[in-house]
Amino acid sequence: MTERLSGKRIFLTGAAQGIGLAIAEACLAEGAGVFMIDRDGGLLRNAASGLSAPPGRLGHCEADITDAAAIAAAVGRASEEIGPVNALINNAGMNVFSTPLDASEEEWNRNFDVNVKGAWNCSKAVLPGMLASGGGAILNIASTHSFTIIPHTFPYPVAKHALLGLTRSLALEYAGQGVRVNALAPGYVETQKAVDYWNSFPDPVAARARTMALHPGGRIATAREIALAALFMISDECPFMNAACLVVDGGLSQLQHPA
Ligand SMILES: NC(=O)c1ccc[n+]([C@@H]2O[C@H](COP(=O)([O-])OP(=O)(O)OC[C@H]3O[C@@H](n4cnc5c(N)ncnc54)[C@H](O)[C@@H]3O)[C@@H](O)[C@H]2O)c1
Repeated sequence: MTERLSGKRIFLTGAAQGIGLAIAEACLAEGAGVFMIDRDGGLLRNAASGLSAPPGRLGHCEADITDAAAIAAAVGRASEEIGPVNALINNAGMNVFSTPLDASEEEWNRNFDVNVKGAWNCSKAVLPGMLASGGGAILNIASTHSFTIIPHTFPYPVAKHALLGLTRSLALEYAGQGVRVNALAPGYVETQKAVDYWNSFPDPVAARARTMALHPGGRIATAREIALAALFMISDECPFMNAACLVVDGGLSQLQHPA
């Protein structure tokens, strides 16, 4: 049976844990080459050593996506280790839990640097190669925060809205040149980021239970459930999907209120 991602060479950010690591596992299993990026070098090396892949199909490099020069160098390394990059998954992101008037300027700047500019730095580094070779796929891991708001998470949703704008701008700009750019919007996912969110409440156990109860199905997503959607979106199984945002939230964002 043909592997679904045979011939894909993916530059994947935020790959050391959570959704990124689940994407790496799922994509390797379907025949892709994966080059893993994370700013946490120790965690990244540990994660990569737990994965198995044939020679030339897996590489990793510690880099911060806010550092454009480091990302350009990492794309060069990826090309040497797994071959020219033809897919990018902008997964690295960070949360800020504040209110508009409490958020510091430093939090505002870092939030936009990581959640928006980081995705642009990586896109800018891979796009010339994709255009020169006739195409590619970029997937931005957005969020239901890209179109809804949870109070006291400012300014994370502002940046995730902007990430959708980046997705659509690049998608329309390069639609005629074989590059597809899409976004995937998870709701709550069982990762360290979600744990950090629950820990921001005085009673994290109660906060976790409240989150589960919000969901029509009574639970949140696993990282693998998000990874499977990402795998589909960068595969050749959806060649006309462009400038889209696929919501994977168990139906939560369609719920007006519980019965
Ligand atoms: N977990 C959720 O509930 C959830 C929901 C919706 C969207 N998301 C989005 O999914 C993506 C992954 O989330 P997760 O829950 O797996 O997060 P996570 O915190 O578990 O992992 C994120 C990884 O990104 C890395 N990273 C952060 N900033 C970086 C930077 N500047 N450069 C390089 N690496 C960096 C971290 O070191 C970490 O390993 C994020 O964009 C997040 O906003 C998560």
